[in-house]
Amino acid sequence: MAEPRYALVFSVALALSGLAAAADPAASGGNGEALFAARCGACHFEEGMGSNVLAKRLGPERALLAQRDDLNAEYVRLVVRRGMGMMPFLTRVDVPDAELEAITGWLTRQR
Ligand code: HEC
Repeated sequence: MAEPRYALVFSVALALSGLAAAADPAASGGNGEALFAARCGACHFEEGMGSNVLAKRLGPERALLAQRDDLNAEYVRLVVRRGMGMMPFLTRVDVPDAELEAITGWLTRQR
């Protein structure tokens, strides 16, 4: 009889540790570069639509987000969640908060 209860306690503990990891940006911080490539790279690498629009609006030296040293986390979060011009907003389903934190951490690493 005791076995199913242990299994339940174990899976609850697992679920809680998963939540804690998701809420702790440091836990996923190492993935920022890879996550940026996966979620944003299609538009924000060289020749991407986002890079082209930014090159026109801000100049070629500020076209590539990955090379910028003037981005702050609050601004990146805002643009991602609300969208901007031709950039569609990305929901928590598209990019969960923990992933966005890792991405903003990486994009603002040079500040
Ligand atoms: C479908 C293409 C697309 C995707 C995917 C995309 N972006 Fe963008 N992004 C754009 C475009 C286009 C602009 C320029 C908008 C403008 O200037 O009107 C932009 C602008 C931005 C800006 C504003 C930069 C500035 O200096 O004003 C930030 C920050 C940004 N994107 C972050 C991200 C991040 C982070 C991701 C991934 C989570 C992402 N974007 C994914 C297309 C995209």
